[in-house]
Amino acid sequence: MKSRYVLSLALASSAFPTIAAARPAAPQWTAPEREAIAAWPARKAARMDPAIERRIAAIVRGMTLEQKVGQITQAEIRSITPDQVRQYHIGTILNGGGAWPAMNKHAPLADWTALADAYAKAALKSDAKQPIPLIWGIDAVHGNNNVVGATLYPHNIGLGAAHDPQLVYRIGRATAKAVRATGIGWAFAPTVAVVQNQRWGRTYESYSSDPAQVAANGRALIEGLQGTLKGDGDVLASVKHFAGDGGTFRGIDQGETRASAGDFARVHGAGYYTALDAGVQTVMISYNSWTMAGTHPFGKMHGNRALVTGVLKDRLKFDGLVVSDWNAIEQVDGCTTDHCPAAINAGIDVFMVPEKWQTFITNTLADVRAGRVSEARIDDAVKRILRVKFRQGLFDRPIAAGRYTGDAAALVDRPLAQEAVRKSAVLLKNDGLLPLAPGKRILVVGDAADSFPAQSGGWSITWQGTETDNADFPIGETLLGGIRRAFGAGAVTYSPDGSAFAPGKFDVVIAVLAELPHAEMKGDVRWPEPLAQSRRYPEQLALLGRVSGKGVPVVSVLYSGRTTYATDLINRSDAFVAAFLPGTEAGALADLLAGTGKRDFSAKLSFAWPSTACPSGGEPAGESLFARGFGLTYAHAVHTGTLTETPIPATCP
Ligand code: BGC
Ligand code: BGC
Repeated sequence: MKSRYVLSLALASSAFPTIAAARPAAPQWTAPEREAIAAWPARKAARMDPAIERRIAAIVRGMTLEQKVGQITQAEIRSITPDQVRQYHIGTILNGGGAWPAMNKHAPLADWTALADAYAKAALKSDAKQPIPLIWGIDAVHGNNNVVGATLYPHNIGLGAAHDPQLVYRIGRATAKAVRATGIGWAFAPTVAVVQNQRWGRTYESYSSDPAQVAANGRALIEGLQGTLKGDGDVLASVKHFAGDGGTFRGIDQGETRASAGDFARVHGAGYYTALDAGVQTVMISYNSWTMAGTHPFGKMHGNRALVTGVLKDRLKFDGLVVSDWNAIEQVDGCTTDHCPAAINAGIDVFMVPEKWQTFITNTLADVRAGRVSEARIDDAVKRILRVKFRQGLFDRPIAAGRYTGDAAALVDRPLAQEAVRKSAVLLKNDGLLPLAPGKRILVVGDAADSFPAQSGGWSITWQGTETDNADFPIGETLLGGIRRAFGAGAVTYSPDGSAFAPGKFDVVIAVLAELPHAEMKGDVRWPEPLAQSRRYPEQLALLGRVSGKGVPVVSVLYSGRTTYATDLINRSDAFVAAFLPGTEAGALADLLAGTGKRDFSAKLSFAWPSTACPSGGEPAGESLFARGFGLTYAHAVHTGTLTETPIPATCP
């Protein structure tokens, strides 16, 4: 009632056109736009705090256009100084994957908090009537993963296999604390992509190919990250990437998602309903485009007003802020990295223009002055940004301060990560070998066995998870370390290339195989390349060839960011574990292999496991070696025997 009163007052007053414009007249949608919008079940609006809304309106009234445009601009720490944040009235900043204070990979925690503090203070020194606190966003997608010394949890594909949203919630709590330890208040997570084709290089960022699983886990992570929004251990979450990121044709990163309006909403929209119900404050838009039913091309999501405004803001009643992805506006028709009125008009509120933020500001000012973008649209964006900042309590206390700020212990939760590792490894085969009794002479082969980069994958210290070595992971345990701990160092021989193998010398071989670390863009396995581990990494098949079939049983552990054709590797192993990307505590897998304290496997695949090197996408039953939901346990022994290998063609048809 009260808010309706405020609204009608504003509408009645022509002296304050910016307020009146916050409720634009119902837009005219085209027929395909209407179809696209109608496919999304409507949500009820959450209650807004009328007192806060009044303060927001008052602040916006007092802002110059320059201040407003600064507020919607997001620059990257490598390209902006604290003083520029002050001078240009910048609203938010970020550090990209692999960006650290002063580009020092080993920047101590004190450097992170000092930098956060410098930016936060600079924002408040602005000469605006009401200086506005700054928010800093970071890709904390499996722990606070850019920071040396932080615990890295399993990537989402493994957490999806755990089928334990309560675990994901606790990881969210721990990650929020770890982000606050660096003086940062916004995590660009969770990814709620519902991946339909494992060729995509970001498959591991997805909890599952099942929309319901994605929705449940995404919600849990948001509740964990955000807490009450105002606590010392709370950060803003960003549900991403809206929408259709997991549905691109042939799994091409930033590609084209082809789906009917109904499927688009039902499959790729699933994670957004639970995210909004959980009170998520920010939504990141996706790089992909959407073609409806193969007929109507909507183009890039960053220019899709029907989806960003028509669906997300109007129909789903999202009242927080919408952020663009890294330089993504340049992909919208007619746009460049620093100029995109179409994206502003589509309804995006915060523009991640990492490097060219200064010209973005100039160009946007010109757009508003020329009427290409209305000041009302800018006001809507600024109000949403301010609303989020009020809800986070930033006007009372800038985020860089708090109980966990600078606290190295808050970066770490080893028992939680170990639990997550044990719960996310799927036992695909166990022909009477596991658990391994103590007292066995063990040969460990495969250089991934002692590699933090291999077990952590992309988004680990660096963007792609490459250009790192074990020295960059001071806290944690490799699988080799865990095997030595669980079975006794004296019982374990490590021979990365398997050359130490001799039949009589060992009772069991543990082979650790891996897909190399990768992230967006670079991680795609592009059609027509076969999606087969042994084709991509022939040395791993050769390694198994050296040790298997020689009378000594072999257990293989595979680190991978996706399910992939591996029947040839599975057939050369007596037991096979899909460990996905466990993070810094992969050593906990050794406790599963040993069955210590009656430990057993519990994880079930959250993606189907392909029986062919040329999966067609969408996981048709005829192409699955192991269906989604499959996973063995010690409690119920199953004999697998030899599986049918399908030929791996030179190129997929
Ligand atoms: C990714 C996002 C990420 C952003 C900031 C983009 O390239 O798609 O997931 O949050 O970069 O690093
Ligand atoms: C950044 C990433 C970003 C990527 C996008 C990298 O340089 O560090 O965070 O997602 O560029 O292209």
